[in-house]
Amino acid sequence: MKLEFCCPTLFGLEGIVADELRFGGKLTDVRAENGRVLFTGDADTLIWANLHLRCAERVLVRLAAFRAETFDELFEGVKAIRWEDFIPADGTFPVKGHSLDSKLFSVPDCQKIVKKAVVTRLGAAYGLSWFPETGARCQIQFSIMHDMAEIFLDASGAGLHKRGYRANANAAPLRETLAAAMVKLARWRGREPLLDPFCGSGTIPIEAAMIALNRAPGMMRTFDAEKWSWIEAERWRTAREQAVAAVRTDLAPDLLCGGDIDPDCVALAIENAKKAGVDRFIRFEQADAVRRDYRWQSGVLFANPPYGERLLDRESAEALYRAMGRAAGGSELRQYYLTSDPEFERFYGYRADKRRKLYNGMLKCDLYMYFKPQAERRPFRAQQARGQVGRGDREVPNRTKGKHS
Ligand SMILES: C[S@@+](CC[C@H](N)C(=O)[O-])C[C@H]1O[C@@H](n2cnc3c(N)ncnc32)[C@H](O)[C@@H]1O
Repeated sequence: MKLEFCCPTLFGLEGIVADELRFGGKLTDVRAENGRVLFTGDADTLIWANLHLRCAERVLVRLAAFRAETFDELFEGVKAIRWEDFIPADGTFPVKGHSLDSKLFSVPDCQKIVKKAVVTRLGAAYGLSWFPETGARCQIQFSIMHDMAEIFLDASGAGLHKRGYRANANAAPLRETLAAAMVKLARWRGREPLLDPFCGSGTIPIEAAMIALNRAPGMMRTFDAEKWSWIEAERWRTAREQAVAAVRTDLAPDLLCGGDIDPDCVALAIENAKKAGVDRFIRFEQADAVRRDYRWQSGVLFANPPYGERLLDRESAEALYRAMGRAAGGSELRQYYLTSDPEFERFYGYRADKRRKLYNGMLKCDLYMYFKPQAERRPFRAQQARGQVGRGDREVPNRTKGKHS
């Protein structure tokens, strides 16, 4: 059966997910849009996407798209879908959705209409007037934007960022999909050392190890679509076996290192890495990031330091960035910092070679990338003074006089 799919993504990750589908999934018909990626395929595509996509939030089957300005139009559009091909007589089919800038703005009312339309269609198909809803979960989702309705079936269940290894997290964990995206943006593939000196629950080094080892992120969890009767269990079994067979083991032990000042975070990171099956490749240690000696180190540094939003206050976070700049700014390491502080570069002391806007949940962040050799890394103030603010660079707003000097 030919199917259309939609993967919602965190804003900023659409292109990376599209590349995962093109290069990993070998799909040609991939379209990245704002906050989502669309593509077509079959049941095997659905399975592959769930098991292997590292940076998408979930996999939805897109069943219909139509104009709906009235409840009647919504009802008829939903009833026209061949639900009997997807939902068995005992299937559980809850409905959720959202509406934006549309005449049908009441989400609870739209939910009721969609449910009624599905029940009407399935009732006629199965000769039933009542559905026990005790069987496989087939989550229905609708989206109504500018009076256009789209109807989906959620194949994933829990979001794809839930890999199954992070039962516990520190106070401000990074979403796994975003951590994987950082590693992909840096094109780190396990050939050089990787350090995360602010590792928290270990998400970045764990995701990086999984990428280098070619461990499918969905290997350790299940998906709602695994119980769908129209996808043979054998297909899932084969795909899972192939994923296990593709795992590499030849990564140098201790190539990755995670550090945190908080011993509880270190213990948590070790526990999570064990659950992810990558603990023997990552050394976790309690260490103050600003007291490390970065001069002799080579490879890549990833950091998701405190932002002054959830952890630390703003001034302490900025003092930390200054200290980090003094410790690591002049080293040979390629460096990637994710923070929501728009003045990170000023405090860190060096202008990034490139910046990329990313969202950590709803929080707008920038990934500051330093990949030029140390000799070409220019101190932030010196560059400003010479008037070398490059194209696309953001002007740094003036701060209250004396506050941060
Ligand atoms: C935003 S959290 C990192 C979250 C992590 N990426 C994750 O997914 O769990 C920042 C971490 O930096 C740690 N930290 C704060 N100051 C530090 C320092 N001076 N040296 C090392 N770690 C520090 C905190 O304990 C916290 O775990």
